[in-house]
Amino acid sequence: MSDIETPDSVKKTVRNSYGKIARDVLVHSQKASCCGEPAKASTSQALYSAQELAALPDSVTAASLGCGNPTAMADLKPGEVVLDLGSGGGIDCFLAAEKVGPTGRVIGLDMTPEMIALANANAAKMGAANVSFRLGEMEAMPVDSGTVDVIISNCVINLSPDKDRVFAEAFRVLKPGGRMTVSDIVTRGPLPTAIRESANAWVDCVAGALEEKLYLEKIRQAGFENVEVISRNVVAAQSASDQADISTEEKERLLQDAQVREFLRSGILSIKVRAVKPGTVMGNR
Ligand SMILES: C[S@@+](CC[C@H](N)C(=O)[O-])C[C@H]1O[C@@H](n2cnc3c(N)ncnc32)[C@H](O)[C@@H]1O
Repeated sequence: MSDIETPDSVKKTVRNSYGKIARDVLVHSQKASCCGEPAKASTSQALYSAQELAALPDSVTAASLGCGNPTAMADLKPGEVVLDLGSGGGIDCFLAAEKVGPTGRVIGLDMTPEMIALANANAAKMGAANVSFRLGEMEAMPVDSGTVDVIISNCVINLSPDKDRVFAEAFRVLKPGGRMTVSDIVTRGPLPTAIRESANAWVDCVAGALEEKLYLEKIRQAGFENVEVISRNVVAAQSASDQADISTEEKERLLQDAQVREFLRSGILSIKVRAVKPGTVMGNR
């Protein structure tokens, strides 16, 4: 965050941007991609299998804004309760709903009203009876303590100005023995100041990204155990300097900085992380 930004102003920028994307999908059926840039190619095709996508309507796949496929590695079981942080148009919720079946349920949480409207419209279209969406912030989840088996999240936590609170809340709502499986953006090495200070880069899932080591440390500090990186990939990050609403001069200024160029080439990673809340698993598993 730059000196002139506050947690509230960051959230307002993020909410406005994702609100616009949700309206574009709802009204104009436009595609979107991580993390705020209009899609050049289909994000969903890059992240999900053809079999997973086959059952999903266009208004679900068009709003796919993630950087991974968290349900593919969450080992979900029938009857489990799943919470998706920053559920967007609902793609991972609908995939999770298939896996937990009619005896399980999935809650999608998102702070952008237009995303909740899009996700509800998608749920109605799909007749997904075991999925519901809640408007709220992941820093103060409107979810009872100890009620969730599995938390998933796809390219969202990096957007939070208070990641300690997010992981503390995740820990609170999970049952003992519950697990968290997230895809997210982190950095290799520190973020160049010029990028951190670009408000638009928050939306692009870059300015808020932490160094991987610090991200994992925050998960452990919240109380999680067995914190494990399942995979990591370098992300092609031309979008950090190719935002539609960054002026040409701003782009040129950013790209004159050798540190920025090197960072955009190799410093942005998509990681898949798994962690467990200590305790004995009870109930339906
Ligand atoms: C990059 S999109 C990812 C959407 C979805 N997970 C997917 O893979 O398509 C980020 C989403 O997180 C939501 N979001 C961002 N910050 C949030 C916060 N602090 N609390 C709840 N939702 C948030 C945005 O409204 C947006 O829908």
